Amino acid sequence: MRNPDDILLEALQQLENIGSLAELDQVKARYLGKNGALTELLKGLGKMPSETRREAGGRINQAKEKLELALKAAKEAIREAQLQAQLARESLDVTLPGRRIGRGGRHPISRTQERIENLFGSIGFDVADGPELETDFYNFTALNFPPDHPARTMHDTFYLEDGYLLRTHTSPVQVRYMENHQPPLKVIAPGKAYRCDSDLTHSPMFHQVEGLWVDERINFAELKGVLTDFMRRFFEQDNLRSRFRPSFFPFTEPSAEMDISCVACGGKGCRVCSHTGWLEILGCGMVHPHVLRSAGADPEQVLGFAFGMGIERLAMLRYGVNDLRLFFENDLRFLQQFH
Ligand code: PHE
Repeated sequence: MRNPDDILLEALQQLENIGSLAELDQVKARYLGKNGALTELLKGLGKMPSETRREAGGRINQAKEKLELALKAAKEAIREAQLQAQLARESLDVTLPGRRIGRGGRHPISRTQERIENLFGSIGFDVADGPELETDFYNFTALNFPPDHPARTMHDTFYLEDGYLLRTHTSPVQVRYMENHQPPLKVIAPGKAYRCDSDLTHSPMFHQVEGLWVDERINFAELKGVLTDFMRRFFEQDNLRSRFRPSFFPFTEPSAEMDISCVACGGKGCRVCSHTGWLEILGCGMVHPHVLRSAGADPEQVLGFAFGMGIERLAMLRYGVNDLRLFFENDLRFLQQFH
């Protein structure tokens, strides 16, 4: 018979070198399991002569008890070590700064719209709203588009089945506002407009700001002054220049297209202004008498000027964005630059 104390010693040495409960179970099985070394010794007792059996049995059992105690101690040591490791791993450094909540930002189009509202607000313009689902009357007829006038097709309108349409510009708000407000009135109407048009520089949905000033004595010189001053403040360029070219809109007479000196090169000529030194920036004019009348105002008593500009265009020029689509793709890498 192998000496149980030798077996015990061997087992204790193995316990010295283990680091996990799985390894501990292996040692236990190797000595105390069904075919473990000490178990085998006990099984062999039956074949021993009775004189030596008693003494041998005692020694085997002693070795077994000692090993069981050692296993228990080793198990606790491993548990304790694992607990300490876990505590160390999960320790909190209470001196670390707290986790911040990511701050969102306004969309560049919203920011540009707010900037426009603030600048016009500072010279006494109200802000008005109108429906995006419009009728032919407000979008065209009341704005002096004759029924079969080619100007209607200029607008590539989205028509809905029930006779409504998606407004093709913010000008219908002029009429709606005049119906509910008596002159003198000064108002801008920012919002979405829609045209069946989509390419590099056109989006089927875009934003415009309409402007309207109606009073007993309002003239084209004031229109030029208000808009030039607005552009200087919007682009923060005191020496920005403007020019007005004759144009046509059914709802204004005379009508003009306003250009400003290029905000990128100051007018010297660059890629942004196609080397002309000028940027087309908005449409404007004196409100047509037919429109004043459609909206319930008396063209013999009051005059007005109106203008309309694209918010995306202003935002692109102010922020130096060269692709319109960036405003609609909602790519965070783009949007986060405006925080
Ligand atoms: N509604 C015109 C457009 O969409 C712009 C405009 C508004 C022109 C007011 C003159 C006066 O192009």
